[in-house]
Amino acid sequence: MTDHTPAPAADGAPAYAGPELIVSGVQPSGALHLGNYLGALKKFVALQDKAPCYLFVADLHAITVWQDPALMAAQTREIAAAYLASGLNPDIATIFPQSAVRAHAEMAWIFNCVARVGWLDRMTQFKEKSGKHKERSSVGLYTYPVLQAADILIYKATAVPVGEDQKQHLELTRDIAQKFNNDFGAPGYFPLPEPLIQGPGARVMSLRDGKAKMSKSDPSDMSRINLMDDADTISKKIRKATTDPLPVPETIEGLADRPEVDNLVGIFGALADKTKAEVLAEFGGQGFGAFKPALADLAVARLAPIGDEMRRYMSDPAEVDRLLARGAERASLIAEPVLEETRRLVGFWRSRG
Ligand code: TYM
Repeated sequence: MTDHTPAPAADGAPAYAGPELIVSGVQPSGALHLGNYLGALKKFVALQDKAPCYLFVADLHAITVWQDPALMAAQTREIAAAYLASGLNPDIATIFPQSAVRAHAEMAWIFNCVARVGWLDRMTQFKEKSGKHKERSSVGLYTYPVLQAADILIYKATAVPVGEDQKQHLELTRDIAQKFNNDFGAPGYFPLPEPLIQGPGARVMSLRDGKAKMSKSDPSDMSRINLMDDADTISKKIRKATTDPLPVPETIEGLADRPEVDNLVGIFGALADKTKAEVLAEFGGQGFGAFKPALADLAVARLAPIGDEMRRYMSDPAEVDRLLARGAERASLIAEPVLEETRRLVGFWRSRG
């Protein structure tokens, strides 16, 4: 078979020269947890004053696995409530449901024709999520990272704050941007967005198993702290978190081969805006009898008010809907012209009238 794949961009092709813009999203597919907060939401809040932020509820992505239609709208509002409760200001950041800006889906189709099957075959998240039932997975689950590229590039985003598990999807986004720019003779048209992943909250692990990611789909609720957990539940989960009989180490090297301890130290650091080394300087040599209550107090102080605010927003769905509708209008103002220009580059028919 002839491969019509054009050669990669020559070095020295002009780089994107447009403004800085930030895009990210969270799926409405189950309760949000501490990993989502530290890996994503907390970063969004820190970035909202630095550049325009387009932050959506990824409902198109959520339906790549079955979602009960009767719950979708409420789950979408719940993620929006979490955004707002975490400290996003809807007058500054643009918050909206992904499916309400239809340009995402149309751009995804164009990118489906840019991305290569070989690229998607390498995606580890599809392998994890489809497991032994690849043939019975939705086609959407397979092309999921292509839609993610569309979400990002439809705004010509330059930076994407995410947890570490999204790194490979961001690399694919950059590959798609580069290949589109090449294939359609538009050097520098799409930026190659930077993933913003660094920091101790980039990969929060399960409280029961330091080698497994904290996840919505873990059957044990004790493995994660949910943003809606009350203060007692948060404390209990931290007290019962798996550790070992040794004290907290005094150096970073001492965290090697102690994944559960490493995780708790990382969570402390992320919540307190400290490095792991600073946390170890404070608690090194102490037992978990001292460290866990300090961590529980910190987690309750940071998270319980967010849960309370979420409940307040969720008791006023009309207000959340108003903010989401306004956000979708604002997002469309950026996305539609990019889609139009992209359609022109692809060569689609346009009325001369
Ligand atoms: P989702 O909904 O699975 O997760 C939302 C965000 O939370 C981060 N995250 C974590 N961070 C640290 N530790 C963990 N244990 C942890 N678990 C989850 C994720 O990395 C993510 O940043 N594909 C995305 C949604 C998406 C998106 C996008 C993101 C769709 N389009 C465009 C950025 C740009 C996802 O499934 O996230």
